[in-house]
Amino acid sequence: TAKSNTVAQAAGKKYFGSATDNPEFTDAAYLAILSDNTYFGQITPGNSMKWDATEPEQGTFTFSGGDAVVSLAQGNSQLVRGHNCVWYNQLPSWVSSGSWTNATLTAAVQNHCSTLVSHYKGDIWDIINEPFNDDGTWRSDVFYNTMGTSFVDVALIAARAADPNAKLYINDYNIEGTGAKATAMMSLVSDLKSRGIPIDGVGLQGHFIVGEVPTTMQTVMEQFVALGVEVAITELDIRMTLPETDALLEQQKTDYQNVISACNAVTGCVGVTIWDYTDKYSWVPSTFSGQGAACPWDANLVKKPAYDGIIAGFSA
Ligand code: G3I
Repeated sequence: TAKSNTVAQAAGKKYFGSATDNPEFTDAAYLAILSDNTYFGQITPGNSMKWDATEPEQGTFTFSGGDAVVSLAQGNSQLVRGHNCVWYNQLPSWVSSGSWTNATLTAAVQNHCSTLVSHYKGDIWDIINEPFNDDGTWRSDVFYNTMGTSFVDVALIAARAADPNAKLYINDYNIEGTGAKATAMMSLVSDLKSRGIPIDGVGLQGHFIVGEVPTTMQTVMEQFVALGVEVAITELDIRMTLPETDALLEQQKTDYQNVISACNAVTGCVGVTIWDYTDKYSWVPSTFSGQGAACPWDANLVKKPAYDGIIAGFSA
């Protein structure tokens, strides 16, 4: 049977990838599939490179969790997507509840991004994660509230200096279809480009609901690419209200195929990452009560119809 990364690369994409998380590495059957680079050419650490994991105390860095992901990926000849430098969530309390001035928080963001990106040198980085509210306004968090929009510039400039070869991304959800939030992201990219701030890509997370995948994905991706950046689908999963039925699984297959086809149709869409490959380790059930079954492999690590949708999407 066709393998997801092999077909993605045959279609001209750089990779088909998966998120993972360190506790899952003790599951040998899980790890065997994750490590098969004909399935996955790229991995993203789901938690272990976040701020709370990497700089729990100011100036004290702990790289062990992220290092384990990088060494796994290198052993399998897989790309790594660093995730992430600046996000309002999973912050240590010294950041989220610190008494900051613009100058002191600027220095802390600079030091965090510079240290992280220089330690995990290499491939791709989500430098900024989820900066916008769904209506396209800026999210009210410690960074925006203290630094205004300059936190974006500060983080990107520090990251570029730390590793000139890494692809630097801004990543968000609900920007996969046309609307206020996608428009806000386009304005941000245009503004960064016009001021010479380094930005290479926009990540469209892709946390979808079965039957509700936006129909304007290709259009949105083309609009981003026209601004001079690449795009990627970075956190794809398509959840349903449980229990799963054959009809829901068939609709999910169609939905996966449509998402992959949209990326496939856009030259500047460089790859697709699913937010873990199996329902066994999906974040969905713990966040959305009564929902789940969002991944292409089931909880027994058996491929679902969604997997065939992925293959079909790359083959179109
Ligand atoms: O590490 C602690 C553990 O010590 C404790 O016993 C346990 C009890 O709940 O919690 C553990 O922390 C959890 C952490 O994942 C590691 O497993 C947190 O509670 C839990 O909230 C956290 O969830 C992560 C979530 O981000 C946090 O917002 C998910 O695993 C991770 O998949 C998810 O990923 C995000 C992306 O980074 C950004 N886009 C959305 C995506 C899905 O929410």
